[in-house]
Amino acid sequence: MNLSLMKGKKVIITGGCGFVGTHLRKKLFELGVEVHVLDNLFSSKYDNDFPNFHNVDILDKGVLNDILNESFDLMFHLAAHFGHPRSLKDPNLNLQVNLQGTLNLLEACRKYNIKMVFSSTFTVYGVQDVMPLDENMNCNPLSLYDVSKLAAERYLKSYHNLFQTETVSVRFSNIYGPGDPQGPYRSAVSNLIGQVLREQSPTLHFKGKATRDFIHIDDIVMALIAVGITENISGEVINLCTGVETTVKELTDYIIKYSKSNIKPILVPANKYYSSNMVGSPLKALEKTGFKYRIKVPDGLKKTIEWAIENYNTFSVEQPYSYNP
Ligand SMILES: NC(=O)c1ccc[n+]([C@@H]2O[C@H](COP(=O)([O-])OP(=O)(O)OC[C@H]3O[C@@H](n4cnc5c(N)ncnc54)[C@H](O)[C@@H]3O)[C@@H](O)[C@H]2O)c1
Repeated sequence: MNLSLMKGKKVIITGGCGFVGTHLRKKLFELGVEVHVLDNLFSSKYDNDFPNFHNVDILDKGVLNDILNESFDLMFHLAAHFGHPRSLKDPNLNLQVNLQGTLNLLEACRKYNIKMVFSSTFTVYGVQDVMPLDENMNCNPLSLYDVSKLAAERYLKSYHNLFQTETVSVRFSNIYGPGDPQGPYRSAVSNLIGQVLREQSPTLHFKGKATRDFIHIDDIVMALIAVGITENISGEVINLCTGVETTVKELTDYIIKYSKSNIKPILVPANKYYSSNMVGSPLKALEKTGFKYRIKVPDGLKKTIEWAIENYNTFSVEQPYSYNP
C-alpha cells in the first residue's frame, strides 16, 4: 500500500475520539496528514491532547456546514450510537444518530465534494446459511442497530447513484485491540479480557462454539487508509475482515492462557440476538484496495492483554473512552 498517497490530504474523522477513531487519528498524524476530529463525546473523552478537535453533534446541521466547508478531501464517518444493547435501550436516538446523522454528513459531502468512508458492521448480514459472508449476500439484520447501519449504507449508495458523491461503506468484523474499553455497550473481546482479569468465569453463548472473524485494530486502521486512498470504488460495500474463523471458546482459552488464569468459562445455549457463525470473505477488499490482514489472533490478543494488565485501573466499565498508547 502506498501510504504516501495520504500525504497532503485533509481528512475529517467523525467519532474520532472513540476506539477506532483514536487509533486512526494517531496513524494519520504520524503520516503527516492534516486531521480534524468531530465528536460530541457521547461515549468518549477529549483530553486536550491533539489539535483540530470540534466538539460537535452530527445531528447539528448548521455547525456541520460551518466546519465541513473547509475543503476536506476525505471523511471517515465512525461516529455512531454503537451496538445492539444500546439500540434496544434507546431506539430513537439510535435512528437519529446512525441515520439522520449520516444523512446530514452525506449532504455536506455532496455539497463540498468530500469522499465518505462509512463504518458499517458485519452484523448487517444477520443469520446466514452459507459462510463466508460476502458483499453480494442479501442481508437479514437482527437488531435495531444493524437495521440503522444497513439503511445508512443504502443512503450512501443512493448518494453515489444520484449525485455522484464519492461514498464507500465498509463492514467491519469484530475489532479488538489495546484501548478497547470494557462495558455493557462494548465488544465481547474487551469484556472477556476484563472478566478473566477479575477472575470471573465468562459466560459463553452457543456453548462457546459460535465463531467470529476477529480483526486487530492496527489492521483495521491500515484497511481504512487503503479504502481512503483507493480511487474508483465509489458506491461499493466492502468487508474489512481476516477470513479466519475462531470459536469464542478458542478465543477465551487464549485469553485465559495469556492472563495466566485458571478459571473455566460457563457454557450456555444460544442467544437469539446474535448469529452463531460469522466469518467474512476478505477477497473484495484485497482485489479492490490491496488490503490483507497481518496480525494473527494469538499475537494480537497477547499484546492486548499486556496492555489491559498495564492499564488495569483505567480499563474499567464506567469511564468514558480515552486511550493514550
Ligand atoms: N468496534 C467494533 O468492533 C465495531 C464493529 C463493527 C462496526 N463498528 C462501527 O465502527 C465505528 C467506530 O467504532 P468504535 O468502536 O470506535 O465506536 P466508539 O463508540 O468507541 O466511537 C464512536 C464515537 O462516536 C461518538 N459519537 C456518538 N454519537 C455522536 C454524535 N451524535 N455526534 C458526534 N459524535 C458522536 C462517540 O462519542 C464516540 O467517540 C462505529 O460506527 C461502529 O458502529 C465498530
